[in-house]
Amino acid sequence: MNRISAIMLGLSLAGATAAQAVDTAKLAIQEELPVGKVAGDYPPAPGWDKLPEGEFGEKVIRGYNYFINTQALAPEFVGNGLNCVNCHMDAGKKENAAPLWAAYMSYPAFRAKNNKINTYEERIQGCFLFSMNGTPPGHLDPALVDLSAYAYWLAQGTLTGEAFDPADMVIPSDEDLVKGGKRDDFPFMPAYLEAGGSKEPALPGRGYPVIDEPAQAPDIARGKQVYEQECSVCHGANGEGQKVNDRYVFPPLWGPDTYNWGAGMQRVNTAAYFIHQNMPLGQPGKLTEQQAWDVAMYLDTHERPQDPRNQGSLEETVEQFHGGHSQYGKEVNGSVLGTASYPNHPNRPQ
Ligand code: HEC
Ligand code: HEC
Repeated sequence: MNRISAIMLGLSLAGATAAQAVDTAKLAIQEELPVGKVAGDYPPAPGWDKLPEGEFGEKVIRGYNYFINTQALAPEFVGNGLNCVNCHMDAGKKENAAPLWAAYMSYPAFRAKNNKINTYEERIQGCFLFSMNGTPPGHLDPALVDLSAYAYWLAQGTLTGEAFDPADMVIPSDEDLVKGGKRDDFPFMPAYLEAGGSKEPALPGRGYPVIDEPAQAPDIARGKQVYEQECSVCHGANGEGQKVNDRYVFPPLWGPDTYNWGAGMQRVNTAAYFIHQNMPLGQPGKLTEQQAWDVAMYLDTHERPQDPRNQGSLEETVEQFHGGHSQYGKEVNGSVLGTASYPNHPNRPQ
């Protein structure tokens, strides 16, 4: 039986180890988000005064804490120095930095291409495997339940806005919670729906906004110049980031301790979208689109941890998983990217 039918039948896989429960082949097929252009108005996220009482509120707080300090889940699940919040900024609330309130209501996502469904939980597992260079927690692992609870609360509060009353929130079962909110039978705030509210908002601000293809092909040498002028002061001369008391205050962009060759951010287009909208920190819009493409090319032509889907053949991995915007398998300065990669989940407990 595959995982989806197991979920449909409501069978619990809790108790299985992470390695057994996670079908990494399925995570491998995650694709680029369908994102729109920047819109004008974004709904404000709920404040802590709107936290639901009791056990569910505790899940939300724990989920928030894991999101901003994902290192708390190392070494079991996390294999690099990053935290979710490094790419999903402002605790996952910031529009155009893949905010959770938009994400939660977009799953389960059906992909016609190969007839598969990605639940919210599976999407997060993908970020553990690739962006966190780790091992994903298994189905219904408390960490995934808590992270889902945080996103659900943000989604409800954001969609309903001023009217949000946490006491009206329907508390889903853990099984329902980890699937995501885009289901006809998802128990979403009855009072809000009765008043004509939509569960399928336009979701402005989802993902990282697309910018046009550059006028000139992205160029590593120009990117290096942008990097040295605009980025190295925080991220370090060698993309290694900066630590205080053994914790990163500025996260690494390449090398052994960052996202791996399977992550969304290693695609030059995705990095360019993220950077154009969010970097340099505190100065969004400072870079031209061309500069964002150039510096993204520069970052993503450096070695990083191996693509965990690589079963021994670089060529096959390139062919199966790496489309036009990835530089994995390409030759740069005399060496082929992906041949001197760093290990996956190096700190994994034995
Ligand atoms: C290195 C950057 C990075 C880190 C760290 C990261 N993510 Fe992501 N995440 C992305 C990117 C990029 C995407 C969009 C995927 C794409 O376009 O391929 C994404 C997508 C998502 C989505 C789906 C968004 C949507 O609108 O569909 C969720 C949910 C998510 N990440 C959760 C997490 C969680 C939880 C963590 C921490 C365990 C995490 N991410 C860590 C970069 C990151
Ligand atoms: C003022 C310091 C600062 C500058 C300058 C800066 N960044 Fe960042 N960058 C950060 C911080 C801090 C984060 C994590 C954001 C968070 O956790 O809220 C980050 C996150 C990132 C990430 C996602 C996380 C990761 O490790 O991959 C990328 C990619 C990135 N920056 C690229 C750039 C690029 C490219 C430039 C130059 C155009 C740049 N940054 C300039 C501070 C900076």
